[in-house]
Amino acid sequence: MADQKQSIHGVWASRWVFILAATGSAVGLGNIWKFPYMAGVYGGGAFVAVYLLCIALVGAPIMLAETVLGRRGRQSPINSLRSLAYTAKASPRWAWAAVMGMIAALLILSFYSVVAGWALDYIIGMGQGSFTGISGEGAATRFATLTDDPWRLAGWHSLFMLVTAIIIARGVVAGLEKALRIMMPMLFVLLVALFGYSLSTGHFMEGVRFLFHFDLAEVPAGILAAMGHAFFTLSVGVGSIMVFGAYMPRESSIAGTVMTVALLDTLVALTAGLALFPVVFAAGLEPSAGPGLMFVTLPIAFGNIAMGQVFGLLFFMLVAVAAWSSAISMLEPAVAYGVERSGRSRVAVTAAIAILCWLVGMGTVLSFNVLAEARFMVADESGWRLFAWTDAGGKTFFESIDYLTSRILLPLGGLAFCLFAGWVLSRDALREELSLQHPQLFPVLLCLLRYVAPAGVAIVFVTELFK
Ligand code: PFF
Repeated sequence: MADQKQSIHGVWASRWVFILAATGSAVGLGNIWKFPYMAGVYGGGAFVAVYLLCIALVGAPIMLAETVLGRRGRQSPINSLRSLAYTAKASPRWAWAAVMGMIAALLILSFYSVVAGWALDYIIGMGQGSFTGISGEGAATRFATLTDDPWRLAGWHSLFMLVTAIIIARGVVAGLEKALRIMMPMLFVLLVALFGYSLSTGHFMEGVRFLFHFDLAEVPAGILAAMGHAFFTLSVGVGSIMVFGAYMPRESSIAGTVMTVALLDTLVALTAGLALFPVVFAAGLEPSAGPGLMFVTLPIAFGNIAMGQVFGLLFFMLVAVAAWSSAISMLEPAVAYGVERSGRSRVAVTAAIAILCWLVGMGTVLSFNVLAEARFMVADESGWRLFAWTDAGGKTFFESIDYLTSRILLPLGGLAFCLFAGWVLSRDALREELSLQHPQLFPVLLCLLRYVAPAGVAIVFVTELFK
């Protein structure tokens, strides 16, 4: 029977480990680096409001769909979808959604590793006290010196990728579970310490106002950005949550578990925002600095306030730990699939995929220096063009991959997973996997999966097209 399947890769010790793993995957650079800078760029409260709505109505239902599909299928996302489609007498082509997701996850990992590498560099910098008393110009120069140096970037990128690969190669229980049991409590303690610190800056309420002040007029600008980010931050649409669902023990209730993960992720993003903006305001800086917010603005702030060095060091350690627990989840779907398909050892498969990903990541490394002028996606009057040597508009390699994954591939993947769980999987299978404590909720969840979440993705896409 399909529902009696066991994963060949291993099973988590309990549903708590799934929560650790899924939260570890969800909480990452997206919460600490991307969320605050995007909120800054897109005007604060308006972006936050749309983001929260997208999490509740689209992101969380898709996370639910992925977990159900993973646990039902008990294999890598591609093979899970293929076998579930077979059981439901649906087209095996559904598996292509998981192929796309797997590629998206590897593309994300390729740039994620580079940005996480910056954090590693900053841990050393903070430890050496090189930010103490730093000026705005000094911090900008330090960041530029780092990003201008392809060798230094490549070194950190390689180290980050190597550690990620080692954890994955050790396997689900000995690698993933063990690493998560150490990393997640650390993350929690670091975040609480930073939050306490920001409360003491005297600018806490300014941060609150910035994040929650809502102006309707500012909503349209950031709609697709907010929705793309809801996918990115919950790690949905790529199969990461699905593969973790495949390792979930049978007895655990999915709906409650998924709610916990989505809430924790949102809580961490808001806490990170509330920990970060007061520090920015305390130093009299602007919140709209863009991707450099965490690496330029924050170090100035940390360099010029009491105890800044200690908390700065803690902060970048937090970023690194959170990034690693996410990075492993991007690699797992491809590694699980590679092992199932080739029958080779986990170590060999992990090495091959990590090297490939590392190579693509070198594109991002170079997009900050040698290839800084090259544009890989350019939109002009004649539509979209790829590859152009021009600095007029357009996106660098890094920006193109970020855009392609967050704004296009993740929502499309999520849409497919959600439609599959809502329409292709039989109602009985869905009901059985959800094992709801309150069965009255079933129609509500079904409605979210069938109509609300897919409509949400569709509306945002169409709105963007006709803007
Ligand atoms: N959710 C992660 C973050 O917020 O940093 C990013 C991420 C992890 C995206 C895993 C996709 C993924 F598969």
